[in-house]
Amino acid sequence: MNNPRFLWILILILSALLATGIYKFVTGSVAPSKDGRTAVVLNTAERNLVLSEMRAFLVSLQAVSQAITEEDRETVIREATRAGMAAEADTPAALLAKIPLAMKQLGFGTRGKFDDIASAARDGADMKQLRRQLDALMNNCIACHASFRLPEPAN
Ligand code: HEC
Repeated sequence: MNNPRFLWILILILSALLATGIYKFVTGSVAPSKDGRTAVVLNTAERNLVLSEMRAFLVSLQAVSQAITEEDRETVIREATRAGMAAEADTPAALLAKIPLAMKQLGFGTRGKFDDIASAARDGADMKQLRRQLDALMNNCIACHASFRLPEPAN
């Protein structure tokens, strides 16, 4: 180990590995898409998981919206909490690594906005305010769909 050149090579290799890791974390597993969006390349199981979470998002959105219309505070709190950050607890790390940083931010941001609606409802916010927060949350759905797609794996 008293060979400085060996140590420098080791440092260079480790730095390259670290840089690759950071690069992967930021870019994710992506490819260009003919429709101008970014294709996020997942395997079948991962894609199915994300799409099932998406359908659950739509169910939550409907449930929270209806609860606001009906001024049912308890249901707003329950349904918004269900769609919040807690829902990410079981997301596999390998899947998260394939999602580009901008998409992760939009995804976690959406979860956070559901949690914000739940806590505002708990703090007694009026229904118009909760509706306003839900309207803003939907801009996250729109922004992410405008930028990313999930191509079906070829096999
Ligand atoms: C972080 C990005 C992101 C956010 C935020 C997001 N989606 Fe999606 N969603 C996607 C992607 C990517 C697809 C796949 C689109 C494609 O391949 O064309 C998708 C697909 C869907 C689908 C179709 C599911 C299927 O079975 O094909 C629904 C429904 C959906 N999203 C609802 C929502 C709703 C409602 C919200 C907001 C509450 C939302 N999404 C927020 C990224 C996002």
